[in-house]
Amino acid sequence: MKPDPADLLGLCRRRGYIWPSFEMYGGVAGMFDYGPLGITMRNNIVEAWRLLYRGREGFIEIDSETVTPREVLKASGHVDQFSDYITYCGSCDSPFRADHLVSGYCENPDVLSPAELEESFRANGVKCPECGGELGPVEDFNLMFKTTIGPGSSRPGFLRPETAQGIFVNYPNLYRYGREKMPLGVIQTGRGYRNEIAPRQGMIRMREFNMMEVELFVDPEDKTWPRFHEVADEEITLVPQDGREVTVTVAQAVERGIIINEVLAYFVYATKELLEFVGIDPARIRFRQHLKDEMAHYAMDCWDAEALLSYGWTEVTGVADRGCWDLSRHMEFSGQDLTHFKPFDEPVEMDVEKVRAKHKALGPAFKGGAKAIAEAIEALDPSAAKGGTVRVAVDGEEIELGGEYFEIVRVREKVSGKRVVPHVIEPSYGLDRIFYSVLEHAYDKDPEDGYTVLRLKPSVAPVKVGVFPLMDKDGLGDFATELDEMVREYGVESYYDASGTIGRRYARMDEIGTPWCVTVDYESLEDGTVTVRDRDTKEQKRLAAEDVPEIIDLLVCGELSFADL
Ligand code: GLY
Repeated sequence: MKPDPADLLGLCRRRGYIWPSFEMYGGVAGMFDYGPLGITMRNNIVEAWRLLYRGREGFIEIDSETVTPREVLKASGHVDQFSDYITYCGSCDSPFRADHLVSGYCENPDVLSPAELEESFRANGVKCPECGGELGPVEDFNLMFKTTIGPGSSRPGFLRPETAQGIFVNYPNLYRYGREKMPLGVIQTGRGYRNEIAPRQGMIRMREFNMMEVELFVDPEDKTWPRFHEVADEEITLVPQDGREVTVTVAQAVERGIIINEVLAYFVYATKELLEFVGIDPARIRFRQHLKDEMAHYAMDCWDAEALLSYGWTEVTGVADRGCWDLSRHMEFSGQDLTHFKPFDEPVEMDVEKVRAKHKALGPAFKGGAKAIAEAIEALDPSAAKGGTVRVAVDGEEIELGGEYFEIVRVREKVSGKRVVPHVIEPSYGLDRIFYSVLEHAYDKDPEDGYTVLRLKPSVAPVKVGVFPLMDKDGLGDFATELDEMVREYGVESYYDASGTIGRRYARMDEIGTPWCVTVDYESLEDGTVTVRDRDTKEQKRLAAEDVPEIIDLLVCGELSFADL
């Protein structure tokens, strides 16, 4: 049955999955803390993501700072373009996200301009939802949290709006570490921050949120993927920009130009596999292409993985082709060379542009320093000299030189390769949204008696096994405690419970999604066997207690099925 989000959030709160942050001070909208079960399940999802990207694909992982200097986010475009439209009530001053106010009247309110939003307020008689007052003009509201680095205001910064920038600004280090080869896949998980105007829908729109991001640097002239053939015949449901849903194979999606290149299509499919692996219902996943005016400022193309939740279709991941946006901008703003050298199969003779120093002018002007300046000039890329002046650093001093000191010439030479700015394919996973979607899709409440089971995949379930003594006497408790320790020492998460009836204890474990429960009874004391009960079938089997840790471990990783025991 479709869960009522309030019911599910109630369970999460009661059982230690999720708690509203700062609750004793009245809470803050859009902020949540993870409890013991929540963080364990979230970590399990992160491990599944690592298994895919570090394990299967061999990508590398980094962890960068979250406080980011302004110049980085100026270069990335976030200072100027990372905003939502806001309007304030003219009477009570309440702020609103302008597109949310017209969502009942237009199909895609988030593509409307400020003037169109204001027109829609007028046409549809939209007033302040709080007091009925007139709404003011629609304005840009930058979503980044501002701060300063150190005392005073000399070094402005922001809390990062995406982990991606930490990867882009480390590109020279990563490129060197990866032996200057393409493709180069880098992953990072951590917090991102967006000062949402109107957080709503529980965990769906959080102000401080968890991301799992992948930045794959590729040769812009080769957007193929070596493992593409492995997924080519798999089916996928897509909603392209025309809005017409199609189910096609991954190969057909590329052949028909629905997805623009192989590598993007491969990671769209890999995302589907990951989401299903962690427990999102395959029948409730689709991929929707962003409309042209919906795309983020850095994206050439973007497919959102959407999960069908009680809130409707909800973005849980974006798989974007960011083209050369980020590296080009960081090259321009930092002055660093972020290109990739692409060798040709054979050296090729061709006309190339070079910057030449005018020695006759440099000598008299710079005397003994002229030689070093001439060398620095001739090491420049011609693109650095197109503006009519060049800047070179010699002995720690930066010198600007006019056109009288250099020229751009064309020469014919054998060239062994060329420099290109890598493109970036970015699968960006909203961890909290995936976490919430997994819970919604696992939530199973009996409409008659209200009995609730979280049918979590064993690999993500925070507790794998409940361990109970039938009664806490006659040595049953000691036996069960020892078994519980054995299971934990084996590396399997367990929960010991000796209170209440066995039925109540099963119910508690079902409600938090524990796949198996083990009960120690009087027979255990005689022959060392215990009862193992399966959450979904309610079937019970009798097994030797000493085998339990290994068997649970094999059940969790799917190498054994309960039916085969
Ligand atoms: N890096 C993708 C995003 O911020 O949504």
